[in-house]
Amino acid sequence: MNARKVIIDCDPGIDDALALMLALSLPQIEVIGITVVCGNVPVEKGIVNARRVLEWMGREEIPVYAGERTPLMRPYVDAMDTHGEDGLGESDLPKPMGKEESADAVTYLLDTLEREENVSIIALGPLTNLARAYQRAPHIFAKVEELVSMGGTFRTPGNCSPVAEYNYWCDPDAAKILYEAFSADTQFKEKKIHMIGLDVTRKIVLTPNILEYMKITHPVLGELVEKITRFYFDFHWKQEQVIGCVINDPLAVAYFVDKTVCQGFDAYTAVETEGISYGQTLVDEWDIWKKPQNSHILVKTNVKAFMHLFLCAVFHANENECDMVLEQILAGKEDS
Ligand code: BDR
Ligand code: CA
Repeated sequence: MNARKVIIDCDPGIDDALALMLALSLPQIEVIGITVVCGNVPVEKGIVNARRVLEWMGREEIPVYAGERTPLMRPYVDAMDTHGEDGLGESDLPKPMGKEESADAVTYLLDTLEREENVSIIALGPLTNLARAYQRAPHIFAKVEELVSMGGTFRTPGNCSPVAEYNYWCDPDAAKILYEAFSADTQFKEKKIHMIGLDVTRKIVLTPNILEYMKITHPVLGELVEKITRFYFDFHWKQEQVIGCVINDPLAVAYFVDKTVCQGFDAYTAVETEGISYGQTLVDEWDIWKKPQNSHILVKTNVKAFMHLFLCAVFHANENECDMVLEQILAGKEDS
């Protein structure tokens, strides 16, 4: 199998950590670099967490780069209330060994895209690094083979305001630059931003039952996941009366390798940057504005297919047994 070259741009973050674990476990993906952006936690903490995950997965050779430390225009607001002071649920895990790469993330992105062909990006945080790369060299950035972005929301409420999702709310100006580029810049031709928004990610709930199964199939990684998600479980219970936690970012990775995991439609999408609805994604589902379509909006997801991929790839669950376990756990919730 020919693995596709991918740069993961992220802000780890509990669910970013789970997404990295998935990407590093899938034979369809060759993670060539990790770029960190300020988001859930400041960049320095995000780098430490990315390296922690690389160590857990035995992949310390993958470089991690430091990205933008503030959003383009707005003051930076982290999400440590959700992810803990350390970004990994205050799990107090050992600091990783190894050194930070010297190049900054934006330079790395542009150098890599210039030098290599067929590089895709999976973006799991605010789009600040990518918008800066586009601003510095639009012609190089246009070489991105595929861009999958966890962010935005179409029909469901936001998680930072009634209409805005965190990644785009944190840096709406960066999101706007990229969505406009994919609509107006002819270098992107037929390409679209694949928007994995809250409409689909809210369906992906890591429940206590699934966590138990992770610990059975892979005790070492299962226990790590338990440590980093405890805080996230408590947050979800207090905030939304959910038993378990919503894990947004791994769905973007699963969708990248298997387009049947989510379904959606093409549309023009604008991002609001001002007023009380800043960060909102306005998806022109009915083509009222007659603008070039810049996005593929995912609205349905197959929860069982996602969980199956996640459990088999990362935790080495047996395929048939995993099917049977998920039938018990997810009865009636597979497609939503
Ligand atoms: C997104 O915001 C972050 O808190 C998560 O890591 C995810 O990328 C969900 O709104
Ligand atoms: Ca994230």
